[in-house]
Amino acid sequence: MFFTLHILLMAISTFGIIAGVSAAMFFRKKKNWLKIHKTVNLISSIGAAAGIVMVFIYITSTGGEHFDGFHQIIGLTAFISAAVTMFLGFYQFKAKNKPAIRATHRWLGRLSLMMFLTAIIMGLILINII
Ligand code: HEM
Ligand code: HEM
Repeated sequence: MFFTLHILLMAISTFGIIAGVSAAMFFRKKKNWLKIHKTVNLISSIGAAAGIVMVFIYITSTGGEHFDGFHQIIGLTAFISAAVTMFLGFYQFKAKNKPAIRATHRWLGRLSLMMFLTAIIMGLILINII
């Protein structure tokens, strides 16, 4: 149950982040791109946090080791870097050094998405689907 919720929540939130980042990359001409980018990425990050809590509970209940494997480490790193990206997303409007924060947000955001996709692939390998 907790494990199924992990897969479900992580799959949905990864799609959400793909959609949120796409809004910033391809739909900049639409006037509400930022609103969509912000909201979709915020909700997806909350979903990802919930998904990780689910698998954490599952592993605790089976008496397994936490974060022991490539998927587990890249997954945790992906989530932390998305959370930092989100913080920078809000902070860039207030920061004194706006261009630097913006550039960091963009690059860390792209990197986070790559790590989410890597985690998905490694997760599918773990459950013998690929
Ligand atoms: C199709 C998608 C996914 C599958 C099939 C999957 C599968 C798994 C499996 C089999 C485990 C290990 C469970 C155990 O040790 O018994 C795990 C743990 C974990 N997964 Fe995923 N996962 C997926 C997506 C993701 C994504 C996208 C992330 C993060 C971005 C993620 C983050 C984690 C973390 C952090 C753990 C370790 C938690 C801990 O050790 O306490 N997973 N996942
Ligand atoms: C998980 C959360 C987030 C991720 C992964 C993310 C990712 C990204 C990426 C990859 C870009 C660059 C797109 C491109 O042009 O190639 C971008 C741009 C941007 N994001 Fe985010 N973002 C997130 C959350 C947020 C939030 C919460 C806000 C605002 C409150 C925000 C505001 C912006 C702005 C203003 C830009 C344009 C920056 C510029 O033109 O330099 N982002 N984001």
